[in-house]
Amino acid sequence: MLKEAQEETAEHIGFIRRLLTSETYLLREHLRRLDSDARHRRFGHDVSDDFINRYAARGGDFGNVTFGYFVDGEVRAVAELRPDILMHRDGAEVAFSVERPFVNRGIATQLMGRVIQTARNRGLRHLVLVCMPDNAKMQAIARHYGAELKVEDGSIVADIVPQEPDYQSWFSEILDERMTYLQSAIDMQRRVRGAAEL
Ligand SMILES: CC(C)(COP(=O)(O)OP(=O)(O)OC[C@H]1O[C@@H](n2cnc3c(N)ncnc32)[C@H](O)[C@@H]1OP(=O)(O)O)[C@@H](O)C(=O)NCCC(=O)NCCS
Repeated sequence: MLKEAQEETAEHIGFIRRLLTSETYLLREHLRRLDSDARHRRFGHDVSDDFINRYAARGGDFGNVTFGYFVDGEVRAVAELRPDILMHRDGAEVAFSVERPFVNRGIATQLMGRVIQTARNRGLRHLVLVCMPDNAKMQAIARHYGAELKVEDGSIVADIVPQEPDYQSWFSEILDERMTYLQSAIDMQRRVRGAAEL
């Protein structure tokens, strides 16, 4: 399974796993590495480091699910799934960010696949993604997964409707979760060892 989740390129090998509640610092570090254009596109407005610190601290709130794309123990891209109980009881918002050196490698597309599987297994019927009208890449990814796109208040809103869960989607998530805990322990050990060597 780990092999399947790996994406090999000339420069790096990465894999996707869920961030644990105790790992919101990885979300913070990733978002703070985004340049100003990526931050603007991710949040729809300019954001400071302080804003990101406060935002990432809520990453582990009940119902939130964050997937990270890991390279050498660092998170280089994320997909965030945030339940939207005010607007849709059976819906969630999704958002993506990929650090500049890692774009155009299909990482956000892979992350979207994982988010959709998770939404499916939680019985969510709508995944809503909001992006800027000139964000052609994000819209291409949404269309790739069958989204309906419309313009709302000057933004593009994509609605992705996950399929009903089935045996395969459950089984796949169970295997992914096992890898999450195993890999998290390995990443933690790597960090402790790295800190000790400083
Ligand atoms: C948008 C973003 C998430 C894309 O991540 P990524 O990992 O580079 O995307 P991928 O490589 O998986 O996919 C890019 C898709 O855009 C397509 N694409 C690339 N350049 C394009 C262009 N100029 N016009 C249209 N489509 C384009 C690719 O063909 C691919 O689609 P496909 O899978 O159907 O072939 C990333 O650039 C980012 O983090 N941007 C800043 C934050 C942001 O915009 N977030 C979205 C709002 S929440």
